[in-house]
Amino acid sequence: MNESRAVGVFDSGVGGLSVLREIHARLPGQALIYLADSAHVPYGEKSPEFIRERCRRIAAFLLEKGACALVLACNTATAAAIADLRAAYPQLPIVGMEPALKPAVQATRSGVVGVLATTGTLRSAKFAALLEQVGRDVKVVMQPCPGLVERIEAGELASAETRALLAALVAPLLAAGCDTLILGCTHYPFIRPLLEDMLPASVSLVDTGAAVARRLQGLLAERGLLAGEAGEAGVRFWSSGEPRRMSAVLPLLWGHAARVDFFAG
Ligand code: SIN
Repeated sequence: MNESRAVGVFDSGVGGLSVLREIHARLPGQALIYLADSAHVPYGEKSPEFIRERCRRIAAFLLEKGACALVLACNTATAAAIADLRAAYPQLPIVGMEPALKPAVQATRSGVVGVLATTGTLRSAKFAALLEQVGRDVKVVMQPCPGLVERIEAGELASAETRALLAALVAPLLAAGCDTLILGCTHYPFIRPLLEDMLPASVSLVDTGAAVARRLQGLLAERGLLAGEAGEAGVRFWSSGEPRRMSAVLPLLWGHAARVDFFAG
């Protein structure tokens, strides 16, 4: 695989694969390197200092592997560390995640929007600034989701336990009158079918994976870093956890098996 124009995509675990699939679908000719920091998943309850340190190490590794751009495919890591990474690498295109509050505010008819996200994302200064900027004219109900990332990491996308946990998490949002729910963590698109099955048809879900892929495409084009369209480029996977564990969920979350290498950083 030619990694000289690769995009480095990383997350606390396998949730960022939901963003990777959008990037790969939009830019099939672009080589991609995906790193799951599975030894430290979930990031949701970790301190911003810890997450910044992990992101610095991972970014340095991906750049050493030839990445020409980075995607923080993790809302919690973006909230804690994107400013730090942009300061460290001012010339590098770096794209992060953000709960899709703006589209949700435009879409809601009831005027009540729910945000499913990690405690870290909801407590962050970045999210507070977003709320202040675009959330003033609607009621925003925040729902931290402890335990959900772990179920998705285990590949339990529709088990009875995952369904029960999710039902308990969305109940207060429905009771508050939310008609639009934001998937504010990159793991959650994987349980979208389960959510759609349990929610009334009047409730819409919004997420940001496709918008991030478009933003990345724009930045790569501006810098002359877009790979040609001839052929499909490879995707290389790394994990700081046990590679076999990630390999086991790749067919479910990525669509097919692939080799996973160990990142010792
Ligand atoms: C987590 O690691 O707790 C979730 C990652 C995210 O916020 O996207």
